[in-house]
Amino acid sequence: MLILITGGCGFIGTNVALKALSRGYSVVAFDNLCRKGSESNLEELSKNHNFVFIKGDVRNYDQLSRIKNVDAIIHTAAQPGVPASIEDPIYDFEVNALGTLNVLELAKNNGKIPVIYCSTNKVYSCEVNEIQSKIFDNKRKWIDKKFILGIPEGFPVDSGGRAAYSPYGCSKYIGDRYCQEYYHTYGVPTVVNRMSCIAGERQLGKEEQGWVSWFVYAKMVDAVINIYGDGKQVRDVLYVGDLADLFLKEIEDIDIHKGQVYNVGGGPNNTVSLIEVLEYLSNLDQRPYRVVYQNWRPADHLVYVSDIRKVSKYWQPKLNPKQVIDIIWDWAHKNRKRVCSIL
Ligand SMILES: NC(=O)c1ccc[n+]([C@@H]2O[C@H](COP(=O)([O-])OP(=O)(O)OC[C@H]3O[C@@H](n4cnc5c(N)ncnc54)[C@H](O)[C@@H]3O)[C@@H](O)[C@H]2O)c1
Repeated sequence: MLILITGGCGFIGTNVALKALSRGYSVVAFDNLCRKGSESNLEELSKNHNFVFIKGDVRNYDQLSRIKNVDAIIHTAAQPGVPASIEDPIYDFEVNALGTLNVLELAKNNGKIPVIYCSTNKVYSCEVNEIQSKIFDNKRKWIDKKFILGIPEGFPVDSGGRAAYSPYGCSKYIGDRYCQEYYHTYGVPTVVNRMSCIAGERQLGKEEQGWVSWFVYAKMVDAVINIYGDGKQVRDVLYVGDLADLFLKEIEDIDIHKGQVYNVGGGPNNTVSLIEVLEYLSNLDQRPYRVVYQNWRPADHLVYVSDIRKVSKYWQPKLNPKQVIDIIWDWAHKNRKRVCSIL
């Protein structure tokens, strides 16, 4: 089987590609290498026989349409950061919305190739805050049973004008909707994965996106970390290797998963706050962390925990947040040069 991974040299793309290659699949990575650090991921990927790289941009259908004989597509290419989307919403739209439409056209025009889509929890508006913060007290402990198992797929994506999403949330939701539409209207087997916080090795983490890796890298080089808000923001963390297992399972069992929308994350058993991550890192190297508190960022979820019961019928996360941090810590120390080139 030949799998096309758009954004195949990014964090998720590279990890999924390496897992697919290790299982004997062939991989084509299509990436414009715009993300700092993606070249070093490409270097690692290129050591594999069954790997091919094509430099190109998902905004350009002509470039995509030259790719032939693909059996499945994992669409990870994106502008993945909220702050960047606020700064340049047109670019964000073109990559995330138009880019996804182009990938779906490629799938439709070549015999309905299955498409696995990386959506995001940001498709749920900041109304998530009003609801989930009510079930946490100040220390972010659960105090109410409503949504105690996290945000489910049926949670409203339209807040009726009451709350913000960020341009990133909008552009990713457009891609999410088009994936559903291409399944129902054209029969393209698509799977939408609304992912929360994915973490692991090879993340091109920086302050704006990839916060768990960024905290580890910053701690390693003793950099100051900005905390926007009180640092008690909670996320459910999912290991990228576990996510790669899910994506490959979705491709292998596409008849079960086609047309589905899944919330994908570590779930309620794998939640962690920003401060908890920093404290854990300080224990690892016995040195205090250096932080500066800044104003809250717009459209930031205070608490986001995925309800993963739907997808858990087929797959479950294996690693907890501490194990994930340990993996990133070891990888970062072994790949110090590579990490420093991203920072
Ligand atoms: N990492 C997370 O925690 C997370 C959470 C939710 C959703 N997602 C989604 O998962 C996907 C992958 O995220 P990631 O963390 O691996 O991001 P990443 O930035 O590490 O990888 C994205 C890759 O896409 C490439 N790319 C960007 N624009 C492109 C374009 N126009 N054409 C071709 N290639 C392009 C980049 O060079 C990069 O290699 C994205 O769709 C993102 O929205 C990520």
